[in-house]
Amino acid sequence: MSTQQPEPETQEAPQDPEMKGAESPVDQRERESGMADQTSVDDANLEGETVHIKVFRYDPEVEAKQEPRFDDFHVPFTKGMTVLDAVMYARDEYDSSLTFRHSCRQAVCGSDAFFVNGKQQLGCKTQIADLEQPVRIEPLPHQEVVKDLVVDMEHFYDQMHAVEPYFQNEDTPDASALEEQRQSRENREKIKMSTRCIWCASCVSSCNIAAGDNQYLGPAAINKAYRFAMDEREPEEIKEHRLRIIEQEHGVWRCQTQFSCTEVCPKDIPLTEHIQALKREAVKKNLKFW
Ligand code: SF4
Ligand code: FES
Repeated sequence: MSTQQPEPETQEAPQDPEMKGAESPVDQRERESGMADQTSVDDANLEGETVHIKVFRYDPEVEAKQEPRFDDFHVPFTKGMTVLDAVMYARDEYDSSLTFRHSCRQAVCGSDAFFVNGKQQLGCKTQIADLEQPVRIEPLPHQEVVKDLVVDMEHFYDQMHAVEPYFQNEDTPDASALEEQRQSRENREKIKMSTRCIWCASCVSSCNIAAGDNQYLGPAAINKAYRFAMDEREPEEIKEHRLRIIEQEHGVWRCQTQFSCTEVCPKDIPLTEHIQALKREAVKKNLKFW
C-alpha cells in the first residue's frame, strides 16, 4: 500500500497515428445526444491539440512498479473531454494496466473521485478545458492506495454504516390500504441536500481531522446521520439514538469547521452547516463535549 507522493518522472506515451480522425467515445456520446455543437470557448481553443496528463502509478504486485511514480500521457483533445475521458483514452490506447474506478460517467455513482491538480474532483464531471496543464491526476489523499488511482474504500464504508444509514420507523402505514408515509414540504426541503450524497469520499479525503483521526466519523457519515436525524418521519427515540451515535468521542465534536469538505463536495452539500446543525441538536439534548 502507498500514500507517498513521488517526484514526477517523464515517460512519454506514443500517440497512435491510426487514432487520428477516429470518433472518440465522447464524440459518439455527444453526437447521439445531440450535444456535439455545444462547443465552449475553451473547448475551441484546445481543438486539434493534445492534452498532457500526469497520472500517478503504483502497483504493489509488480516489482518494477512498487515505487510510486507519475506517467505522462499526451491525449488527443475532443470536445467536452473530461478527466475521466482522458484517463480512459490513456488506458485504452497507451497502457491497458492503468487502473481506476468509474461507472456512470454522469456524476451519479461516485466511483471516480480523483485528486486533480490538487483538489478532490469527480473525473467525469471535471472538464479538461478548465484545467491547467499538465493535468496532474492522483488517487484521493489520506486513503490507502490499492493500485494506481484506486484507493481502499472499506474504512469509508464502515464509517458510513456506523451511523445506520437507513430509515427506521416501526410505525409504517398500512400498505394494503395504500397509505403513504407523508413528509411535510418544509421537512423535505430541510433534508433535501443531505440526500444527494453519492459516497465518493471526496469530503473525507479533504478533511484534516479525518486524516489525523482514523476513528472520526467524517463529514459524509455525519451528513448521512443528519439526513435521518432531521427526518420528521422517524420517532423521537430513534432521533435520540442517532444523536448518541454522532456525539460520541470521534463524532461531530471533532469537526473544526474548516469547510474543506463543503468546498470539494461534487453535489454541493452544505456539509459543514449540517455538522453544525447536529452539534446544536446534541447540545439541546445533552450537554456533552469531548
Ligand atoms: S458528502 Fe459530498 S463529497 Fe462527501 S461522499 Fe457525499 S457526495 Fe462525496
Ligand atoms: S463515473 Fe460515476 S460519478 Fe463519475
